[in-house]
Amino acid sequence: MKRQLHLNLFFHSRGHHEASWRHPATSPLPLTDIAYYQGLAQRAEAAKFDSIFLADQLALGEDASQAARTWLEPVTVLAALAVSTSRVGLIATCSTTYTEPFNLARQFASIDHISHGRAGWNIVTSWLASAARNFGGDGQVSHEDRYARGEEFMTVVKALWDSWAEDAVVDDRESGLYARPQRVRPINHRGDFYKVAGPLNMPRCPQGRPVLLQAGSSDTGRRFAARHAEAVFTAHMAKETAQEFYGDLKRLAAIEGRDSGQVLILPGLSPMIAGTEAEAQRLVREVNELSDPEVGRQRLSGRFGGHDFSHLPLDRPLSPEDFPDPGSVQAARSRTEVIINLVRRDRPTLRQLLGYMAGARGHFVTAGTPEQIADLIEDWFKDAAADGFNIMPPLLPMQFDAFADEVVPLLRRRGLFRTEYEGTTLRQHYGLEWPASAFERLR
Ligand SMILES: Cc1cc2nc3c(=O)[nH]c(=O)nc-3n(C[C@H](O)[C@H](O)[C@H](O)COP(=O)(O)O)c2cc1C
Repeated sequence: MKRQLHLNLFFHSRGHHEASWRHPATSPLPLTDIAYYQGLAQRAEAAKFDSIFLADQLALGEDASQAARTWLEPVTVLAALAVSTSRVGLIATCSTTYTEPFNLARQFASIDHISHGRAGWNIVTSWLASAARNFGGDGQVSHEDRYARGEEFMTVVKALWDSWAEDAVVDDRESGLYARPQRVRPINHRGDFYKVAGPLNMPRCPQGRPVLLQAGSSDTGRRFAARHAEAVFTAHMAKETAQEFYGDLKRLAAIEGRDSGQVLILPGLSPMIAGTEAEAQRLVREVNELSDPEVGRQRLSGRFGGHDFSHLPLDRPLSPEDFPDPGSVQAARSRTEVIINLVRRDRPTLRQLLGYMAGARGHFVTAGTPEQIADLIEDWFKDAAADGFNIMPPLLPMQFDAFADEVVPLLRRRGLFRTEYEGTTLRQHYGLEWPASAFERLR
């Protein structure tokens, strides 16, 4: 079968640009209004996108007075989206550090049942230091401990999702047999972090298991993704690093004994689209002028685990020495490497770096015509940098509409993207295999 591009719409505030919430062309709805999210999901479905995605953080940022940072709880939002759409995949972030495997397995299996097989889970270990303080901790759980806990967490949730055989439910009113007892079994997990008896209190979900996504990019994060992820989100500021990541992750998946075609790589892309390049650049300038460098400075500090950048002048070229060693950062380590590599390469001033980060926090930002955006997508897709894209419109919903109306038809004309959904589940949209449970393997 011809390789097809996969497209995911990443919801974020009123757009991925930090100042999008202030821009007059973005949605007038409050960020707590479910109609806003429903409208976006319906637009993504009309454009035949594979999926939509909600990120999550478990703490309010310190800049809440100047940045639109309210978060509806993502799994709750998915439940509402599941009943207001019928085909688009529904992905939410949930943390392995700050939830229990039994809760999470239930929640995502429920969304998979409610949506008839469209649930995806973005597995994160939560890098934000302030999240720890909302869960009984004093400070950051180390990168290593988070991933160690995450690994055991995965063993437990997979066992819970597999604790019901596909044919366990009989639901026979005549005989009085609801479920075959030998087809539902406990998991009896006892490990370093978790003790979970199981089984799950719900039949196996329509996709077998929800689709598993992950976004770790450090060495540990990549190995974790290679073992568990069926699709991987990733942030790159250049095609070359995206290619390096793509090659490395496919290689690591093969080392884990997996078919590397079953691990999709979806880099972020934040395009400002207009009829001419000059108009697209004008829109970028317009929204950049609304951003506040001090919000960016605080956000940069958060990325580096709270490192103090307040002494750095805005207009002197930066050098890597202005930053702490990424190896010592316990937060989102790989994103700090992306930032330092950019500083090493381009020597931007702090103001320029913050301007770039304001666009989409270290993802690939570009401005151009629909043709230019389609060319870029085709180039990355055909040149081993991506299996698809995590589309991060800078302004919502207007820039998603521009993508759907102007870029998607070009991708279709080039034979890269579907005109209709062929399947009904997220697993089918992504071309992923059915995950055989232990019951099926025993047959
Ligand atoms: C597209 C994308 C979305 C992400 N969403 C979240 C999120 O919602 N919550 C979170 O804590 N981390 C999120 N992350 C961060 C990753 O989970 C991961 O911590 C980060 O990429 C650093 O990788 P590392 O932990 O291997 O260093 C996201 C990363 C990417 C690329």
